[in-house]
Amino acid sequence: MRHYLLTPGPTPIPLEVAFKEALPIFHHRTSKFAAIYKNVVEELKYIFKTKNDVYILAASGTGAMETAVINLLSPGDEIIVASCGKFGERWTDIARRCGVNVISVSVEWGKAIVPAAIEKTLKKNPDIKAVYTTFTETSTGVVNDIKRIGEIVSKTNAVLIVDAISGIVGQEFRTDDWKVDAAVSSSQKGFMVAPGLSFITLSDKAWELVKTSRIPKFYFDITKYKNYYIKNETPFTSPVTLITSLQESLRLIKKKGLTDIWEECKLLAKAARAGIKALGLELFSEIPCEVVTSASVPGEIGENIIKTLKEQYEVYIGGGQGALKGKIIRFSHMGDIGKADLIVGFACLEMVLIKLGIKIEKGKAVAAIEEEFLNSEANTLQKLKIEV
Ligand SMILES: Cc1ncc(COP(=O)(O)O)c(C=O)c1O
Repeated sequence: MRHYLLTPGPTPIPLEVAFKEALPIFHHRTSKFAAIYKNVVEELKYIFKTKNDVYILAASGTGAMETAVINLLSPGDEIIVASCGKFGERWTDIARRCGVNVISVSVEWGKAIVPAAIEKTLKKNPDIKAVYTTFTETSTGVVNDIKRIGEIVSKTNAVLIVDAISGIVGQEFRTDDWKVDAAVSSSQKGFMVAPGLSFITLSDKAWELVKTSRIPKFYFDITKYKNYYIKNETPFTSPVTLITSLQESLRLIKKKGLTDIWEECKLLAKAARAGIKALGLELFSEIPCEVVTSASVPGEIGENIIKTLKEQYEVYIGGGQGALKGKIIRFSHMGDIGKADLIVGFACLEMVLIKLGIKIEKGKAVAAIEEEFLNSEANTLQKLKIEV
């Protein structure tokens, strides 16, 4: 049965990409694979906006996060974790398991990281090796000011490591210009590929830390990936099928244009926020990102909303995690999710809210979303006429 995947990962996979996943397997130590790999890592550099190498790991996003901890640090090191949600907390979980001391510069879930707090903590603790934070915190829908944080951290000896797992592709992110020393992402969000691949890039400043890192590692030892990168290979059996489908998704992304994708996500986010407000619901995030929109729901009915959407309409959206379970709902608008998908999602949400006894006016959210789309399309038409 047809379903509507409006979850913030995995996101829908375009047919062109899915077809590549269905092709017969071939061997990874071949010139055929090397050519695909070479092309893919070049395109990844374009997406990450970096001149540095981007390494591909056969792991979900958390694998790249772990790689960014175990290759840069040693037991007893001190780091800052600036967290504003569930995925920010993951940095702390990984680091503490490795015997790293974490100073938390965290904010309440729903709020954005305060760059000045990082600055203050770095001044007070000059031995801090690294600052770990999140670009778009998928669990709350918040975006953090990585550019400002980069300006602050780059003036110190510390490196800045950013989880850009959900934000990259959908929202403007510039690894080098924003002075990010390590950025990680994964396949199942803006990249529109099945889960299973993650990516990591490191600056020269970060590579200096790799030289002294004493945390034990094997599969995620980044120096192995670097050695094989030169040969257009990965150190272990490559996820051939996923990398082949990634090549196709990168082709589609480039064809559309990264800046056009950023604009599209911006519009979808604006429309989703208008839809939420039209329903009388409140946005959950202080500074909303452009890849996922979160809203508070009354009476902790979030899980009920999600279950009903799924069971009655085959519409899948995200819910609250941890302490937010039941309290928020999250609509994704990244990757292969378009205007019509959002309209379907909100139309079904309206029906579900009515069924659950919430007093809303039928069609209001959909009308608000249409309004945003029509306005933007009218502006584009106007612009085209002027250009002609
Ligand atoms: C911002 C962020 N960080 C980390 C993760 C974890 O990634 P994975 O589930 O691929 O390991 C996710 C996935 O939802 C995410 O959105």
